[in-house]
Amino acid sequence: MNVLILGSGGREHAFAWKISQSNLLSHLFIAPGNPGTANVGTNLAVGVTDFEGIVAAIRAHNIELVIVGPEEPLVRGIRNFIESQPDLQHVGIVGPGSDGAQLEGSKDFSKNFMHTYGIPTAASKTFTKETIEEGLLYLEEQSLPIVLKADGLAAGKGVIIAQSLQEAKDALEEMLLESKFGAASEKVIIEQFLRGIELSVFVLTDGENYVVLPEAKDYKRIGDNDEGLNTGGMGAVSPVPFATAKFMELVKTKVIDPTLHGLNAENIKYQGFIFIGLMNHEGEPYVIEYNARMGDPETEVVLPRIESDFLSLLIASSNGTLSEQVLQISSQYAVTTMVVAGGYPENYRKGDVISNLEKIEDAFIFHAGTQEKEGEIITSGGRVMAFTGTSNTLENAIQKSQKAAITAKYEGKNFRRDIGLDVLRFKN
Ligand code: AMP
Ligand code: GLY
Repeated sequence: MNVLILGSGGREHAFAWKISQSNLLSHLFIAPGNPGTANVGTNLAVGVTDFEGIVAAIRAHNIELVIVGPEEPLVRGIRNFIESQPDLQHVGIVGPGSDGAQLEGSKDFSKNFMHTYGIPTAASKTFTKETIEEGLLYLEEQSLPIVLKADGLAAGKGVIIAQSLQEAKDALEEMLLESKFGAASEKVIIEQFLRGIELSVFVLTDGENYVVLPEAKDYKRIGDNDEGLNTGGMGAVSPVPFATAKFMELVKTKVIDPTLHGLNAENIKYQGFIFIGLMNHEGEPYVIEYNARMGDPETEVVLPRIESDFLSLLIASSNGTLSEQVLQISSQYAVTTMVVAGGYPENYRKGDVISNLEKIEDAFIFHAGTQEKEGEIITSGGRVMAFTGTSNTLENAIQKSQKAAITAKYEGKNFRRDIGLDVLRFKN
């Protein structure tokens, strides 16, 4: 089977690396891909929102399965577009249509969905420009800190945790009146702050049945000890010791099952990943957010732990046969450390030559923001590469990942030194 992966980050390199190991694969294409994916497949110069270009590539390369990496093409309806082509009815797609992708594309939709189907989540209310006065009054009645979220996609930046009433009011006004996050903040969700430990849970579903992939913990802040600005993710660990069998059973019965029930009740055909960002609040799971895709960099620790044929699972998700699949998971630890460009997550450096990669032997290298230029690999994005160490012990997995992050060289390199250390303390 010929397979096309959409995207160009570390997540898509990890997909490509894993899928390239499958006996079911004939040829792998990645659009647009990166220098890492070029080592395991063929990159196509087509962007993820160039829907005409994508269907042309599907036709030109006899693609039978499309795996959608990032959220933007999902929310914009890439599934609907492919499905509307009469000659492409045989093409399987991993990723929901624009209706299912609303779980991620509209926080107002996802909060209503959770309230309707009894899925535990923080209490919330949605406001618009027209109801801003009510929103300001509502803020006065809430306890602090309080969370404000832009309704739409805001590249991970649309969440503000306000520590004071003034900060909350200013944020609400900036979002609704000054379009702080553009059209994404035409609606703002004001949400109760939940204390607890965060966990990412990944479900692959064919619309009816599902498998729960290995869970992960993400490190979102730029600095060690969770200090500084939010980023797309600076590292990840799997497994997570506080995701006990007891807690995961609660996640299944209180979150995953009602989520799938709700999708069916809403007549939303959902074939793809559901990434559930959870808070473990006093032993109970609360949904912080849904995403309609895998996480990045979580994928870089989840996939190395999957022993089953991953392509076989993806095909089954796309054709409704997931109940026939067995998911085998390795008990090994996986830890990934992202190296980022100097300045990230604000204005950052680009075009720096990356060297020393050939000296990295003990870790998987997943390219993210890189490009090839005149035979050299240069930095081209904020998050540059993810280095994943795997081992029977968490200590060793951390050490392998960190050693690789230290070894890679380029001007302005930055990375967190504490990925996994909190989990290690928790474990001991
Ligand atoms: P999101 O973009 O929804 O993932 O939110 C970004 C981050 O903000 C999350 O990973 C949490 O750390 C934090 N956050 C979001 N909502 C809440 C909440 N209700 N209570 C506490 N923290 C939250
Ligand atoms: N690492 C968080 C995300 O992919 O949204």
